[in-house]
Amino acid sequence: MSSRPRIEGYAIVSREGMIAKSDGSFPEELKIPADQQFYQESLDRASAVANGRHSAEGGPKEKGRKRILVTRRVQRIVHDADNPNVILWNPATAPFDEAWQKLNADDGILAVVGGTDVFGLFLSIGYDAFFLSRAQASVPRGRPVFPGVGHGVAAEEPLKQHGLVLKETRMLDPVSETVVEEWVPK
Ligand SMILES: NC(=O)c1ccc[n+]([C@@H]2O[C@H](COP(=O)([O-])OP(=O)(O)OC[C@H]3O[C@@H](n4cnc5c(N)ncnc54)[C@H](OP(=O)(O)O)[C@@H]3O)[C@@H](O)[C@H]2O)c1
Repeated sequence: MSSRPRIEGYAIVSREGMIAKSDGSFPEELKIPADQQFYQESLDRASAVANGRHSAEGGPKEKGRKRILVTRRVQRIVHDADNPNVILWNPATAPFDEAWQKLNADDGILAVVGGTDVFGLFLSIGYDAFFLSRAQASVPRGRPVFPGVGHGVAAEEPLKQHGLVLKETRMLDPVSETVVEEWVPK
């Protein structure tokens, strides 16, 4: 248990910076096996995950992971009645550090996995790294990776505005030309 974890963001975006369609569903075009593998392996290295109500990672390990579920449905930070690994946190009523203490996770990485508002929320709390996977697929309208992205505003713009710079770009899948960019504080 530590004062603050290393905070890492993980998202895959369309050419236009979208993470989901307008109806909130995950686009088939963004299901890239090499990215899914990178994502799941990254979560395996994390001590905990943070997400909104519709953005848990899925898969057999989901239930066993320590998790901060961001929600407006609670006032105080409480454990999920159905899963003691999960705490419910309303950022309007309590600071992040309090949520992290309550989670009682090991030292290490908190993986932030969305959606839009949760990615945006952690821009202010501070990312130690943001892994932005970029697919070549087009999802022109929908839910952007950060609030304000789209309509000419690129996916990386909010990262730059919050002082992050591109550290490196790695090829994840040469066939679909999917890459992952690592953005880090200057
Ligand atoms: N491509 C990608 O990398 C990626 C990443 C993540 C998600 N997605 C996709 O995006 C879609 C889900 O998007 P979504 O916009 O519905 O996101 P979401 O963040 O998963 O869910 C929204 C809900 O989370 C809670 N929430 C979010 N921000 C909050 C805040 N600042 N304060 C308090 N509560 C907050 C609220 O829950 P309450 O209603 O409980 O208050 C809100 O209704 C899914 O299809 C998912 O698969 C894609």
